[in-house]
Amino acid sequence: MNDIQTIEPKVEDPIKDSASNNEGSMKPQSSGRESQSQQGDYLYPWVRPYYEDPLVMSSAEGVWVRDVDDNQFLDLFAGILTTSIGHCHPVVQEAVHEQMARLGHTSTLYITEGQIEAAKSLAQITPGELQTTCFTNSGTEAVESAIATARLYTGRHEIVALRLSYSGRSTLTSHMTAQRAWRLPFGGASGVVHARSPYPYRSPVGDGAECSDFFIDDLVEVIETTTGGQPAAFFAETIQGVAGYIVPPPDYFQRAAEVIRSYGGLFIIDEVQAGFGRTGKHWFGIEHWDVEPDIMVMAKGIANGFPVGATVTRPEIAEAWQGPSIATFGGNPIAMAAMRATQNVMNREDVPTRAHERGTQLRLGLDQLRDKYSWVGEVRGMGLMQGIELVTDRATKTPDGGRAEKLLEATKEEGLLVGRGGLFGHVIRVGPSLLITEDEIEEALKRFGAACERVDG
Ligand SMILES: Cc1ncc(COP(=O)(O)O)c(C=O)c1O
Repeated sequence: MNDIQTIEPKVEDPIKDSASNNEGSMKPQSSGRESQSQQGDYLYPWVRPYYEDPLVMSSAEGVWVRDVDDNQFLDLFAGILTTSIGHCHPVVQEAVHEQMARLGHTSTLYITEGQIEAAKSLAQITPGELQTTCFTNSGTEAVESAIATARLYTGRHEIVALRLSYSGRSTLTSHMTAQRAWRLPFGGASGVVHARSPYPYRSPVGDGAECSDFFIDDLVEVIETTTGGQPAAFFAETIQGVAGYIVPPPDYFQRAAEVIRSYGGLFIIDEVQAGFGRTGKHWFGIEHWDVEPDIMVMAKGIANGFPVGATVTRPEIAEAWQGPSIATFGGNPIAMAAMRATQNVMNREDVPTRAHERGTQLRLGLDQLRDKYSWVGEVRGMGLMQGIELVTDRATKTPDGGRAEKLLEATKEEGLLVGRGGLFGHVIRVGPSLLITEDEIEEALKRFGAACERVDG
């Protein structure tokens, strides 16, 4: 179980590798390796691409991506579930060009109608009384804002998060994150404790109704044993994304919300990956659990690739944060224009229904692959957020990060882009544009099936 390093791409020393590739060899260096070598000269090493021979993207449209060598790929990962209505959507392009020519920047010191309109459009789809928004530039900042809001409102400090979570790359959010590889390797965040991930497939009491009792008991025990009994909030992703699309049991969030509220804390839900129709039928993942959070966190798909983070809460909770505070780029006019255009297209296309329909088609195809290959332990997810957990065998359920790494490479060979996750890098993650068509899903399944064939045996 200590193969956590398999999460990272295999290239040992890209700069040395590509340098030695050039020396005394007539073989031209691949564009991917060459770019990686140059990137290594100028960017931090953590800016690390997927694949042994990294993909250098040059253009994209819808779910189709081209690299600098003019190879075409069907994109099932959408820049980590972010180009929610497809790459370079014409409506977003037009809105951005128009806005950029008129007013490109203001800061939060001045009012723009565009920011108010964007917040209003969110309030129309968020559950219940969640209507007051704070715009920032990333999921990380949106999580930070949610935690600050909860602490200011409750006057308390402690946060109960979940193991296997991913919350961002700042000092606080990397320590709310509970996967070793993604945490900054120093200290920890003060006042953050972690309950068990509600992971039915790996529950010690099986995945039936009793597993919910098990996870809720653990949540209570963590509060009772590792906090002062006065937590500010319980913080959870609706579906744990980087962890490999872990879907909590059907009654988990209702019960978890009851628990945290019984201790006087708030319930914060992170919809950075699961939001905006991705899980099908509803706008937000948490609506499947029929419980209203106190604060919601959004980013990624909200503006089809423009940097927007949003923290949404009830007015009386937002009142607790009087400032002063600024976000120089928060609510930037161009980002807001991209967001409004994205939301308009999502409304017009009814993406929750589309994600349900195409997600059902996708799931059917993935389930058939699970039936065919014994190394597929579980297929899980909702709508167009589907994960394939790889194991060495179904009896021991030992995570198989090695095969997942090979499968990631094989999908690229087949002209398909997917993602990878799980504590051991052993889960393949699929999360395409919500406007993906029936034919494109069929084509993607064909390519994914061919990639599975390559790594079988
Ligand atoms: C659930 C979740 N929350 C927060 C974040 C942080 O978002 P960002 O990378 O935009 O800072 C991520 C990023 O993957 C995420 O998956």
